[in-house]
Amino acid sequence: MAKSYSVLLIGSGGREHTMAWKLAQSPLLNKLYTAPGNPGTAEHGSNVDLDTDDFEAVRKFVADNQVDLVIVGPEKPLVNGISDYLKKHDIKVFGPDKKAALLEGSKEFAKDFMKSYRIPTAGYQTFTSDQFDKAYEYVLKQDSYPAVLKADGLAGGKGVFICKDAEEVKERLDQLSSDPALRNAADKLVIEEFMEGEEASVFAISDGESYKIIGNAQDHKRIGEGDTGLNTGGMGAYSPAPLMTEDLLLEAEEKIIRPVINGMKSEGTPYKGILYAGLMITKTGPKVVEFNCRFGDPECQAILPALKNDFLELCIAVCEGRLQEIEPEFEPGYRTCVVMASEGYPEKYEKGKIITGIENVDNTCLVFHAGTATKDQKLVTNGGRVLNVVGRGKTLEDSINHAYDNIKRITFPNAYYRKDIGHKGLKRL
Ligand code: AMP
Ligand code: GLY
Repeated sequence: MAKSYSVLLIGSGGREHTMAWKLAQSPLLNKLYTAPGNPGTAEHGSNVDLDTDDFEAVRKFVADNQVDLVIVGPEKPLVNGISDYLKKHDIKVFGPDKKAALLEGSKEFAKDFMKSYRIPTAGYQTFTSDQFDKAYEYVLKQDSYPAVLKADGLAGGKGVFICKDAEEVKERLDQLSSDPALRNAADKLVIEEFMEGEEASVFAISDGESYKIIGNAQDHKRIGEGDTGLNTGGMGAYSPAPLMTEDLLLEAEEKIIRPVINGMKSEGTPYKGILYAGLMITKTGPKVVEFNCRFGDPECQAILPALKNDFLELCIAVCEGRLQEIEPEFEPGYRTCVVMASEGYPEKYEKGKIITGIENVDNTCLVFHAGTATKDQKLVTNGGRVLNVVGRGKTLEDSINHAYDNIKRITFPNAYYRKDIGHKGLKRL
């Protein structure tokens, strides 16, 4: 593959800056475009002001700019079928087709699929939006709390409710049928058993036939220290997770990753892209909490820097069905990503605060942009999650220290970050 590739990367978060940084290291890269991107992705190519929900506009950009490959970061365009659309126009795309992306796009699909292929997960029952009274009766009959309610469709992380009693179930059912932000996603509802344990995620890349494990991580979803407060997109992550022992990783691969790839293939919807398996490590082994059809954010920031292989070559191999030719190799050690957010996130927060000090971080650390923008030639905050500071180290403790030593060098008014990222991993060592 001596050819050089012009790539269009879709997305604008910390995950996409990490992918852009990694793609820029590839000798196969000719030109990188990111749509819409952020000031971090602009360091590695050109940002493009494209509406990525408008697949025809994306196709036209690809044609006008001789783009050879489109790499999709976030779930929304994948679940809406961007891969199918572009492939129909003979464009190479990295990211699963609409039917394969249903593993994330529909909880009901994912649960039914797991049931068919005996993939360990919580027991469940599905209800349509006109059966919410039946759903309530079902919960009362089960009489087991907490009860877990999940809107079937994409809900931006806001569609899952862990309810402590019947009263809360009732409130949430009302919310699911009335909240305009949830109504679409809650066209169907999955009620599932509560699983007890600690969460971790395992990431695989697949061309539909073969797959390779490319890392594992633990996310910190809550805004507050000690995993308290509101859910967020993720306030930090570290990789690898000491919780995921070699035995557990093997078990997760054999009971979850392999059956998913083989099962999707036998369903006639081969899974091509990154598979994110969110797991609960229970007393009886790993069980699936959810699948995502893309890299996690901020997990990607903690995983991708360890990959020694050319990421662009891997993406091309996936598109061409040649993944079995490549063996992923990894740097030893740990990475800890701490997210710097705007005070108030995940609720109300202010934007436009001037960011300084990124140039002062040392070489133990990488900084990836998320919600940033350039205004009057200054870098300013432009979102809830603003920056990702990734410490690297021989040990988990070193990587945590490197992240926190360096985060102090970066400032913006109202910066907030959790001080305990990685601590639950240290307890396992
Ligand atoms: P999901 O969007 O399905 O990942 O759910 C969001 C979060 O809710 C997960 O990361 C878990 O912390 C929690 N969760 C979801 N399903 C369950 C379950 N069956 N048992 C316990 N916790 C769950
Ligand atoms: N960090 C969780 C996610 O990307 O879904």
